[in-house]
Amino acid sequence: MKHSLLRFGSDTELARAAASDWIEAINQRVAAGRRFSVGLSGGRIPLALFREAVVQSTRKSVPWQAVDFFWVDERCVPTTDDQSNFKFAEELLLKPLQIPAHNIFRLRGEIPQADAVTLANSQLRENVPAGVGGLPEVDLVLLGMGEDGHSASLFPGAGPEVVDCTEPFLAVQSSPKPPPERITMSYAQIAAAKDAWVLIAGPGKEAALADVLSDSPTLPLGRMIQSRRATRVLLA
Ligand code: 6PG
Repeated sequence: MKHSLLRFGSDTELARAAASDWIEAINQRVAAGRRFSVGLSGGRIPLALFREAVVQSTRKSVPWQAVDFFWVDERCVPTTDDQSNFKFAEELLLKPLQIPAHNIFRLRGEIPQADAVTLANSQLRENVPAGVGGLPEVDLVLLGMGEDGHSASLFPGAGPEVVDCTEPFLAVQSSPKPPPERITMSYAQIAAAKDAWVLIAGPGKEAALADVLSDSPTLPLGRMIQSRRATRVLLA
């Protein structure tokens, strides 16, 4: 089995458990003298996770200054736009936790896509040590899944230039979920992450979920799960 499945009664319960496990993972790694790198996603459920992480941080000490923040994907909009993944992470997580600016490696949705991808590739390579396959080994990627089985900004029906990309990040020009232009971690980069947790909530996802958790999936999240040794799926 390439995934473990945890079911929760509500989005809040899911967010609470994910935040608690994330904090535990940070504490363990930092206690071992290392920094912790995380890749954040967009979508709805991360907002609940961010709020929970902040609440839990008021109750126990968390070494957030040793956490480096990257993004799994970003929409090509300015950071003032409500579609910006960074905007809500900043508002709900980074500012409340007073994360130092030098720990934040956002994807630059406001500059030409090719430049943003080049910058993102070098930032990740410079700040996260390479793992077995030569790509940076991010400690944890926090993924979501859309109704069509997409994850990050990797959508069904993409061509080989997307599926076979060997760089950490790539540009997406025609995302079916608005906005059409995005920057996303590649399949290879997600495969290279040490841990991957998929936070799934919201209606209309049953059919995609059955596909991606099957032994022969056809949808993007299924491809990711098959490419990894282990993936944790949290479902509300
Ligand atoms: C994005 C995403 C995307 C998201 C899923 C799930 O920026 O659009 O990173 O992959 O995680 O679409 O989003 P919901 O949780 O809102 O359904």
